[in-house]
Amino acid sequence: MLSNRRFGVKTILAAAMAAGLFFYAGADAGSGVTWETDLRRPKNPDTYGNVLMDRVTRGSKEVKPVVFSHWTHRSKYTCKACHTDLGFSLKGRTTEIMQSDIAAGKFCGSCHDGKTSFGVNECEKCHSYGLTQTRNTSEKLKDLPKDAFGNQVDWVKAVNEGKIKPAANHDGTGVLTPLDQDTIIPVTKFTPHPPDVKFSHKVHTQQLDCVSCHESIFKQKNGGNPEMNMMKIISGQYCGTCHAKVSFPIDDCFRCHSQPAPVIDEDKKDEKKDDKKDADTRDKKKK
Ligand code: HEC
Ligand code: HEC
Ligand code: HEC
Ligand code: HEC
Ligand code: HEC
Ligand code: HEC
Repeated sequence: MLSNRRFGVKTILAAAMAAGLFFYAGADAGSGVTWETDLRRPKNPDTYGNVLMDRVTRGSKEVKPVVFSHWTHRSKYTCKACHTDLGFSLKGRTTEIMQSDIAAGKFCGSCHDGKTSFGVNECEKCHSYGLTQTRNTSEKLKDLPKDAFGNQVDWVKAVNEGKIKPAANHDGTGVLTPLDQDTIIPVTKFTPHPPDVKFSHKVHTQQLDCVSCHESIFKQKNGGNPEMNMMKIISGQYCGTCHAKVSFPIDDCFRCHSQPAPVIDEDKKDEKKDDKKDADTRDKKKK
């Protein structure tokens, strides 16, 4: 009989393969799964979370489309500062922005006023698509706690350890009061099922307002989102609204599927012990 612990890891591997198969099926059917969410594709940590904004500038002769990088901005501001207060949508290429708005101090112009950061006349700093530019992202982020996925920063630790202090408001002031409430989302739609999912309100409401999620993404009720499933998440709905694009990516299965905690480390330890045992036996045999 396999021990529960080992069985856990096996079921997850099986689940991962199933998810991969679902993904192929989805991509082939042209289901709108984009390359950002393609789990097969390695992501560049320097550009993970960058948004190409070309709603009105695509094909323009006057200016290049805009490249917006989350990593520079989220070190200084919470998601709420931009997504709740300044009206940027959580879906790329949908916010209706004209240059006249920016010049009038709205959207990017709220901060790019020549005081908080560079001003609106430095066109090519924003309209930079296809231009060779050194953003030095990894250099700027090198002192933040490391993670294996996304842009390789653990943003939760960065906030909790006080390495960054993202402001609640766009003028650089304020902090959000987090809601200390965890929810376990049981995984019921797949057998054998991967570990259940822990959702921490605290981690999310350090950065986000309730309105970013309730009711537009999630019904405000435990078990109130029965239509949610992994394929929808991979294709950018529910948790995937953020985790397929800006927050740590879907590839990091066990950061969400954490109940009970994954035992991969434990397994590695066992393996090491086994290795050691093997080595010991070999040594003995030699003798
Ligand atoms: C951002 C959080 C998050 C990440 C990362 C994540 N999952 Fe999930 N997963 C969920 C949630 C939430 C559910 C839905 C639970 C429910 O309502 O049944 C789920 C459900 C599932 C299910 C059950 C079947 C289904 O369609 O609902 C499987 C299998 C699964 N995930 C596998 C994976 C694998 C494999 C990975 C890594 C490649 C992964 N998950 C990464 C949050 C996540
Ligand atoms: C702080 C960032 C920023 C700066 C600086 C900036 N823009 Fe823009 N601009 C944008 C964004 C964002 C859009 C919307 C892009 C889209 O959705 O396609 C935009 C859209 C435009 C558009 C197309 C829409 C329209 O209003 O016609 C033009 C043209 C434009 N900008 C010209 C300029 C010029 C010229 C400059 C320099 C004088 C400039 N921009 C400086 C961010 C900026
Ligand atoms: C300085 C402002 C700013 C901050 C801070 C910010 N964002 Fe954004 N975000 C934007 C802009 C601008 C866009 C592009 C909107 C558009 O193209 O319509 C965007 C787009 C997105 C998208 C859609 C990406 C895509 O490819 O479709 C997601 C998801 C997102 N943001 C999540 C977050 C999260 C999570 C945080 C906090 C950790 C955050 N943002 C912080 C300005 C910001
Ligand atoms: C809430 C304030 C705020 C908003 C809104 C904002 N920015 Fe910024 N942005 C900053 C600050 C502050 C910096 C300087 C960050 C640094 O260098 O540490 C910056 C830096 C930048 C840079 C240079 C660094 C990099 O990421 O390449 C670009 C380009 C840029 N912003 C583009 C934009 C565009 C385009 C928008 C709108 C879609 C926008 N910003 C909206 C505050 C803001
Ligand atoms: C990042 C998204 C997100 C944010 C931001 C968020 N929530 Fe939630 N909330 C959820 C999810 C996911 C659930 C669980 C839904 C489920 O089980 O299907 C939930 C459930 C709830 C519930 C139901 C708990 C129960 O026992 O039934 C309440 C109440 C709630 N949230 C309040 C809030 C409040 C208040 C805020 C702002 C301070 C907030 N949420 C911010 C995602 C969010
Ligand atoms: C509106 C955006 C948004 C949505 C929707 C969202 N998250 Fe997150 N999540 C974040 C941000 C921002 C962080 C901070 C870390 C980062 O950005 O990588 C985060 C962090 C986390 C963490 C890390 C916790 C830790 O202690 O390190 C987990 C786990 C997580 N989210 C699970 C979920 C699950 C499960 C769902 C869906 C039920 C979900 N998230 C939906 C934005 C979101």
